[in-house]
Amino acid sequence: MKITIFGSGYVGLVTGTCLADVGHDVVCMDVDAAKIERLKQGEIPIYEPGLESMLLRNVEAGRLSFTTDPREAVAHGVLQFIAVGTPPDEDGSADLKYVLAVAESIGEYMDDYKVIIDKSTVPVGTADRVHARVAEVLKHRGVSVDFDVCSNPEFLKEGAALEDFTRGARIVVGTDSEKVRERMRECYAPYNRNHEKLMFMDVRAAELTKYAANAMLATKISFMNEISNLAERLGADIEEVRRGIGSDPRIGYHFIYPGCGYGGSCFPKDVQALARTASQIGYEAELLTAVESVNKRQKVTLFEKLSRAFDGDLAGKTIAVWGLAFKPNTDDMRDAPSRTLMEALWAAGAKVQAYDPESMRETRRIYGERDDLVLVADRIQAVKGADALVICTEWKEFRTLDAGWLKTQLAFPVVVDGRNLFEPSAMKSAGLMYYAVGRGDTLALSRQGAFHVWHRCRPGSA
Ligand SMILES: NC(=O)c1ccc[n+]([C@@H]2O[C@H](COP(=O)([O-])OP(=O)(O)OC[C@H]3O[C@@H](n4cnc5c(N)ncnc54)[C@H](O)[C@@H]3O)[C@@H](O)[C@H]2O)c1
Repeated sequence: MKITIFGSGYVGLVTGTCLADVGHDVVCMDVDAAKIERLKQGEIPIYEPGLESMLLRNVEAGRLSFTTDPREAVAHGVLQFIAVGTPPDEDGSADLKYVLAVAESIGEYMDDYKVIIDKSTVPVGTADRVHARVAEVLKHRGVSVDFDVCSNPEFLKEGAALEDFTRGARIVVGTDSEKVRERMRECYAPYNRNHEKLMFMDVRAAELTKYAANAMLATKISFMNEISNLAERLGADIEEVRRGIGSDPRIGYHFIYPGCGYGGSCFPKDVQALARTASQIGYEAELLTAVESVNKRQKVTLFEKLSRAFDGDLAGKTIAVWGLAFKPNTDDMRDAPSRTLMEALWAAGAKVQAYDPESMRETRRIYGERDDLVLVADRIQAVKGADALVICTEWKEFRTLDAGWLKTQLAFPVVVDGRNLFEPSAMKSAGLMYYAVGRGDTLALSRQGAFHVWHRCRPGSA
């Protein structure tokens, strides 16, 4: 099939590449000329495992190309996917200006039947708005061309996007048109051979399904963070509690890791947007509001723990940070907990010495060159000469640690672990002051004030 994808970001590029890989003829369009130029040169603007080789293979085979020309893009596909960003507006609702701009381009240039597919995460009712906008432009042009708009939300997660797209649990399509169902069946047939994954439903149900899925996952995370804060204060180990509840099949082990809060391009904005949709129709979505505020509070805990360890005086300290991306296997820094931490550290007069396997370029893009941000080549250099260490992202390469060695590197043996990677007892016996999330040991140390404890324990001190 001839397919056009508007938006060449995480979702657009993965969708376009995967659809080309099963034989479709795909054109990806983006308004970002620099991004398209890089793609034409064979350079991948984002980090997503496996994407580069699959993309280059399909470009080479002539099934995947890139353009900034909306006329060419609209003329190409019978399927027109909209995969542009839907960032939060000032009031937290999803900003649809990019989606509606694409709708206008399609209306402007189409001259035969098109299926317009909302793949971006958009509020309930957006398909109607896209339909109305295209119809308006066609009317303005004085032409009559048949088209349909359907919803096909994307459930991929960054870091495993190719796997999710090609082997996802379901393919949700919201439409009431048999013609659209046929086209979408044809488009996704290569992914639908093992068992039926296509779930056709009403457009509004499809739109809400995406928000409900993200809100549910975010709720699990915030719930677990809430319990971890209780565990910390009650002297219980959240990791034991996690295993204790995860073993119940009604609860399960997925998505119940305590940590330093969720980030990324989806959960924060989608929870907020759904709460905003609710309030716009006069319904107070109290649970969603709580999920969001628990998360905001959780993101601050890394800084709070560190600050407590230094008795509130971080000025002039150099803090090593392991991991900047909002989660492993991506370079995405949107709403990453590391950003909350770094900004608080800078405000407190501390310097950041950080390492991330993939997102340092993105960090530089966001924060630019500054004296209080040093990006280094590996985790070892990050702790050299640092006063303390904070772990923000659970990249695989951070999961083993010679605690004795670490103690010799840090000026103060303070480690704040936002991902509970290590056993508190092992860290403690190596002489480290180890602050994790929701673990009993953390509380004992924080009650006494780690900095004082450390000073008291120092050889030669009273
Ligand atoms: N990133 C994820 O993990 C993920 C997963 C599922 C759903 N989503 C949703 O998918 C959508 C896209 O997310 P993303 O992470 O890929 O965003 P992104 O910011 O990485 O990419 C969006 C791209 O759209 C381009 N764009 C903007 N206006 C355009 C226009 N008029 N024509 C063509 N291109 C245009 C931008 O230049 C950018 O390259 C969002 O609604 C998001 O919520 C994202």
